[in-house]
Amino acid sequence: MSNRTFSTRQARWRQDRASLMQVRHKVFVDEQGVPAEIEMDKADAHAIHLLAEDSAGNPIGTIRLLSNGQIGRMAVLKAWRGNGVGSALMTMILNHPAAISGPPPFLNAQTQAIPFYRYHGFIPVGEVFLEAGIPHRRMEIPAYDQSKI
Ligand SMILES: CC(C)(COP(=O)(O)OP(=O)(O)OC[C@H]1O[C@@H](n2cnc3c(N)ncnc32)[C@H](O)[C@@H]1OP(=O)(O)O)[C@@H](O)C(=O)NCCC(=O)NCCS
Repeated sequence: MSNRTFSTRQARWRQDRASLMQVRHKVFVDEQGVPAEIEMDKADAHAIHLLAEDSAGNPIGTIRLLSNGQIGRMAVLKAWRGNGVGSALMTMILNHPAAISGPPPFLNAQTQAIPFYRYHGFIPVGEVFLEAGIPHRRMEIPAYDQSKI
């Protein structure tokens, strides 16, 4: 882990939309080839968004939480990966009051990112499926699954 300086904060869709979209577009559309119209959806307007920024205030990472507990749009610019940015965002969203008091958090992980989410306590559930042509698998945090206790 390097000591590159960054900060994380809750974003507001209306004010921070350009910053959030800049990171997501670079990572999902430019790098991964996800169609831009799939990348941005109607859920954005009502989601809780977190933003990571470098010391100059440039956006470098994003994550969002939907009211059904779904976590998504986990993205860190390539140049910043491996510096704890993704982990900082994930930790912050899992500790957000909406995640603690809301439905159990889950996500649809790109299979290449499963180890990252395991690191944060998620386990794969069910079969691999394709979304935007990319293999995904649902992941949940077992402790949140009250029905299995
Ligand atoms: C997945 C992603 C968000 C991780 O962000 P990051 O800032 O690089 O992650 P961190 O630096 O906090 O890494 C935390 C740990 O997870 C590991 N890790 C991170 N990404 C990983 C990956 N894709 N596969 C395996 N391990 C991974 C790191 O090695 C690190 O472990 P360590 O602390 O023991 O070294 C980032 O790689 C990314 O944006 N990828 C492209 C977009 C993407 O795939 N998003 C997920 C869509 S479901």
